Amino acid sequence: MQETLFETELTITQEYEKILKNNYPSQQDKYGALDLINWDFKEFQTQYLSHRFHSYPARFIPQIPKTFINLFTEKNDTVIDPFCGCGTTIVESFLNRRASIGNDFNPLACLITKVKARLISEEEMSLLSKKLLELKRYTDSDHRKPEYYRKLPKRNVSNLFNRDMINELCLIKEGLDELKEKEKIYDLGLVALSSTIWSIIESENGVEIFANFYRKIINMMGTIREMRALVKKEPNVRVIHGDARFLKIDSNSSTLIVTSPPYVNALDYYRVHMYNMLWLGMNYEDFRKHEIGGHSHYIANRFRLLSEYLADMLRSMIEMNRVLVEGGVCVIAIGNSSLEYELIESYKRFLDFASYLNFRPIKTIFRNIDTTKKYTSKDIGKIDDEYIIVLEKTNNIGISSKDDAFVEEVVTKQMKEFEQRVKENPGSSLRGKRVSEKRLKQNADRIAEAIRLIPQDIKIKGG
Ligand SMILES: C[S@@+](CC[C@H](N)C(=O)[O-])C[C@H]1O[C@@H](n2cnc3c(N)ncnc32)[C@H](O)[C@@H]1O
Repeated sequence: MQETLFETELTITQEYEKILKNNYPSQQDKYGALDLINWDFKEFQTQYLSHRFHSYPARFIPQIPKTFINLFTEKNDTVIDPFCGCGTTIVESFLNRRASIGNDFNPLACLITKVKARLISEEEMSLLSKKLLELKRYTDSDHRKPEYYRKLPKRNVSNLFNRDMINELCLIKEGLDELKEKEKIYDLGLVALSSTIWSIIESENGVEIFANFYRKIINMMGTIREMRALVKKEPNVRVIHGDARFLKIDSNSSTLIVTSPPYVNALDYYRVHMYNMLWLGMNYEDFRKHEIGGHSHYIANRFRLLSEYLADMLRSMIEMNRVLVEGGVCVIAIGNSSLEYELIESYKRFLDFASYLNFRPIKTIFRNIDTTKKYTSKDIGKIDDEYIIVLEKTNNIGISSKDDAFVEEVVTKQMKEFEQRVKENPGSSLRGKRVSEKRLKQNADRIAEAIRLIPQDIKIKGG
C-alpha cells in the first residue's frame, strides 16, 4: 500500500514537472499549458526547504509562483512580488535561478524573506553554532541578568510571557545582538527567535524556549546546506521594506509579477505579528498606518473599509503595471471575503481595474484550497477557495498611483455597482446565518454613506 501511494505521488509530480519543462513555441502555447495543470495540488508537498522557516498567515502555496516562473521567465528575467509576505515567490525565484524583488510593509515579512532566499557559508554557520553553545551555557546557568528586558515596553510583553520566559528570551536576544555585524547569521538567528515566539503564542501547553530555538537553528542550517547543493550560483535578490502603492522599483524592469495581496477585512498582520515585532525591536505602529486591508478602524461603518481597500488595490495595480515590461505577465491570487453579510468577490474588482490599466485578461483560474494547508481563523472563517487572475500588460498607462481623481472615479463606479447588487440581492454572504431585514436595510444606508465619503476615505494615510 505504502509503495503504491509513493508511486502515484511521484507520477503526479513528474507529470507536473514535465509540463513546466516543455518547450512552448509561443506565449499563447504557454497560456495553454496553464490548462494542463491541476491547480488543487492536493498530493503535493507544499512545505519544503526554506518555505518551512517561519509560519505566515494566508501565504500561498509555492506551486503557484513556481508554475508561472517556469513557464513565463527566462534566465536573466526578474520576478517581482509587491506583497511578498514570507517570500514564497522570492524563494521560488531563487530555487529556479531567477533574480527577484520582494516588497512588503511588514518588517518581519522582509526579514523572513531575506533569510529564506540566501545561502550562508560553512564558516559563518560555525560562528552561529559557537554562539548557540555559549547561549546554552547562559540559559542553563541563569547567572546572567538580561539587560534587554529594560528596553521592552513591559505592559505589552507581560500579557503573554511570564518572568522566566522573558528572561530566557532576553538572554537569547542579547546573545544574538552580539552577532549584529555578521548580518546573515544574525538575521537567521532573529527568524529562529521570532519563530520560537510564534510557537509560544500558538502553544497551549508551554514551550521549552531554548530547546525550541536551538532545534530551529539546527534545522535551518541543515536546510541551507541542502539549498547550497541545489543553487550553485546565487541569483540576485532584493527585499524592499516599502509600500506596494508606491514601489521603489524602476519602471519596465520585470517580466513577471506573482503576488497574493491582502484581503479586505480579513487579518491585521500588524496585530498578528505584534509580539514578534516587539521582541525584534521593529516598528509595528508604522506598519499599522500603512497596512492595506486592516480593519481596526471605521468600526461604525465597515463598508468604508471596502472603498479604502479598493482604492489601495487600484493604486497597487497601477504600480504593478508600471514596473512590468510590455508583454509582461501579472498574476494575482485572491479569495473572496465577506463584509457585514455581503460577499466581496475581490477578483472581479481586480479584473475590472485591469480594464482601465492596459492589462489584458488572459484567464482566471479557480482553485480549491486544502484548508489543512491554508491559514484559517475564527475571525474570517475558512479561506476555502482562491482565484488566480492572469493578466498581460499591453502597454504603459499614463496614470500615476498618486492620481486621487482617477482613483476616486473608478472606486465610486465600483461602489455604486456594489450598492446596486446589494439592493437586488441583500445578504449574499449569510452562510446559513439569520439576519433581520432591518440589519440588511441598515447595510444599504451604510453603503450610501461610504460612497459619499469616498473622496476623504481614499486619501493615503500615514504620510
Ligand atoms: C496575503 S499576504 C502575502 C503572502 C505571500 N504571498 C506569502 O506567500 O507569504 C499579504 C501581504 O501584504 C502585506 N501588506 C499589507 N499592506 C501593505 C502595503 N501597503 N504595502 C506592502 N505590503 C503590504 C502584508 O504585510 C502581507 O504580508
